[in-house]
Amino acid sequence: MFNKKKNKHNVCAIVLAAGSGSRMNSQIKKQFIDINGKPLIYYSLIAIASSPSVGEIILVTSEEDIITMQNIVKNFGISKVSSIVPGGETRQQSVYNGLLEIPDTYEFVLVHDGARPFIEIDDIENVIEDAHTYGAATLGVMVKDTIKRIDSDGFSKETLNRAELTAIQTPQVIKKDLFLKGYENTKDGIFTDDTSIVENIGVNVKVTIGNYSNIKITTPEDLIYLEGFDK
Ligand code: CTP
Ligand code: MG
Repeated sequence: MFNKKKNKHNVCAIVLAAGSGSRMNSQIKKQFIDINGKPLIYYSLIAIASSPSVGEIILVTSEEDIITMQNIVKNFGISKVSSIVPGGETRQQSVYNGLLEIPDTYEFVLVHDGARPFIEIDDIENVIEDAHTYGAATLGVMVKDTIKRIDSDGFSKETLNRAELTAIQTPQVIKKDLFLKGYENTKDGIFTDDTSIVENIGVNVKVTIGNYSNIKITTPEDLIYLEGFDK
């Protein structure tokens, strides 16, 4: 346990927008889809920027989109974005590229998917608070469906206890030194979220219960949730 008081501005955020959005099947990459006159990425950026603990934001995007992102940040006046860096082949590599840009003065790193525009300030503050207490925390929600483990032929092997299962979201907040140490130990491991990188080196990760509304815009059906959405 860390039992540290939350300091203003000791969190540096990495907002991810370097994916290709292949499951969205749209002409325009999902981070640039227009929602009420603003690109989708705008909503995640202003939500994260509104946290008083976040001192600055590193935005990760594809090399070819850096100029477009610079224009978005400038036009919408998102002043906490301090740098825009190219992403990597995988989400994990994109996070690492962002991590390398973080100034030494920051104690915590917050990672957020640019494709989660509905994130709310209370949940951001709660997960930051838990990371200050435990060293690493992620937002998540209790699963609503029954989950069965299946074999390669599609037959149920086991019905898992739903009371013990959470579906993991972002933001995830991790003490920077632990995160860097976690990355040193990743080797060829496949990590589908950021906190599993520190779980792998023995860190106890707190799951901060958030909101079902914090969905990741992934497939065309998800766009319906954005109708009428504005901030
Ligand atoms: N992401 C990233 N770098 C990658 C892959 C993903 O920064 N190499 C980001 C995406 O931009 C997104 C977040 O990670 O904000 C979550 O990824 P996902 O929803 O899977 O987005 P995409 O990878 O873009 O979509 P898809 O998997 O359908 O191609
Ligand atoms: Mg992806």
